[in-house]
Amino acid sequence: MQLPNYKQAKQRIKENVKIENYENSAIYQELGSGKTYHLKTYGCQMNEHDSENIEAMLEQLGFTKEENMEAADLVLLNTCSIRENAHNKAFGMLGRLKHLKETKKDLIVGLCGCMAQEEGVVNEILEKHKEVNFVFGTHNLHHLPQILKKHLDTSQQQIEVFSKEGNLIEGLPVKRTSKHKAYVNIIYGCDKFCTYCIVPYTRGKQRSRKKEDILKEIQQLVKDGYQEVTLLGQNVNAYGKDLENNYHMEDLLEDVAKTNIPRVRFMTSHPWDFTDKMIEVIEKYPNIMPFIHLPVQSGSSRILKLMGRRYTKEDYLTLLDKIRNRIPNVSISTDIIVGFPGETEEDFKETLDLVEHCKYDNAYTFIYSARENTPASKLLDETSLKEKEERLYRLNNIVNQYFLESNQKLVDKVVKVLVEGKNENGKTDLYGYTDTNKLVNFDGDDTLIGQIIDVKITNAKTWSLDGKISEC
Ligand code: 5AD
Ligand code: SF4
Repeated sequence: MQLPNYKQAKQRIKENVKIENYENSAIYQELGSGKTYHLKTYGCQMNEHDSENIEAMLEQLGFTKEENMEAADLVLLNTCSIRENAHNKAFGMLGRLKHLKETKKDLIVGLCGCMAQEEGVVNEILEKHKEVNFVFGTHNLHHLPQILKKHLDTSQQQIEVFSKEGNLIEGLPVKRTSKHKAYVNIIYGCDKFCTYCIVPYTRGKQRSRKKEDILKEIQQLVKDGYQEVTLLGQNVNAYGKDLENNYHMEDLLEDVAKTNIPRVRFMTSHPWDFTDKMIEVIEKYPNIMPFIHLPVQSGSSRILKLMGRRYTKEDYLTLLDKIRNRIPNVSISTDIIVGFPGETEEDFKETLDLVEHCKYDNAYTFIYSARENTPASKLLDETSLKEKEERLYRLNNIVNQYFLESNQKLVDKVVKVLVEGKNENGKTDLYGYTDTNKLVNFDGDDTLIGQIIDVKITNAKTWSLDGKISEC
């Protein structure tokens, strides 16, 4: 048993990260034959992409996918710890699984992802959740076959969580959800330690993949007919800072653009690491999409300082205005936290003012959630939940108005849409996304799925657009 440790998760050591290749050992290959699995994924794109690796590993072991959780032989929860509600959802699901296991004794239950990295969570599992058969963390995804085998051989609960990040694993199998757009990890972990955030503890220190490995993966995606890649990381702009080859995010973006993949996206960008050179590269290559997710978190410089964000409101606005001036029709989205400890009505009004200035195309807004062991969780927080909910409501009213306004600007315009799939229950046949990442619904033939086509926008709503395939 290897348990997580908060102190160790905080440490950042200079030791070089090694690269290891995933080996699919023959001794595990029959482990899942005749059995089914059901995987539930919570949280961000990093988790979604990890789940694409987990599904492929399970299928290599002989498991087949089962959509109905109650019917599966193995249920695995890939969890998120960013806010308390994600955490509660996973524990709620464990409650259901405990119940299911009363009538289905052979059910195997596993838990992985960010919550597995939390000392408090694993202690709770040890004490109260005997229905969980195995736990592994974010640093040892590739040990899934061994951990599962150990459980099957011994019938004992297996817990293997490393708090110190391990090597970078290349060559993990992947079962991609889409045939047209793909996630590609470029950097793991985060060294920013924003005071409210648990990610630096659950995902470990910043580790960039080698550019050769990233480019090889993307070149293969191009050969396989993929139309879009999203370069993933908690803070992609820090790409390369941990390597010694003076090759940074702008260089990688340029090389990725040169693979001629039709669409390149990247997320998430920390404003502090966003360089002028990056803006130049985005401006230069038409296949780098004019869409930037640029979390601001707060419009008050006082709160930004308490959050450890390393920029002031003015710095952020200067960057945003520069991006808007240099990249035509750029779409900018953001993340905002309301109710950070000590946020006053004045601070909050500064956030509203900032939003009025930035006119975001999209925004993800959250109420601050104290995460165990983070510096912010030790700050005095005197604002009531009711007050925080009211702030969120006021903020959402304003941001929603700007989403609609930015969508309305597209009415009667012809835009490029990557057709992603069929609307199973919707009024229109198909849906896809514009280069600025806006959802468009329209009628058309299934054969268009996977193509980038011209669509004329006929109607704007807050969250989506309606369109008509353009004849010209
Ligand atoms: N409480 C609320 N929101 C949080 N986020 C990160 N940590 C917390 C927290 N403790 C939000 C930030 C981040 C997004 C992914 O989640 O806005 O950008
Ligand atoms: Fe969390 Fe800040 Fe790192 Fe983003 S940059 S993952 S908010 S610590």
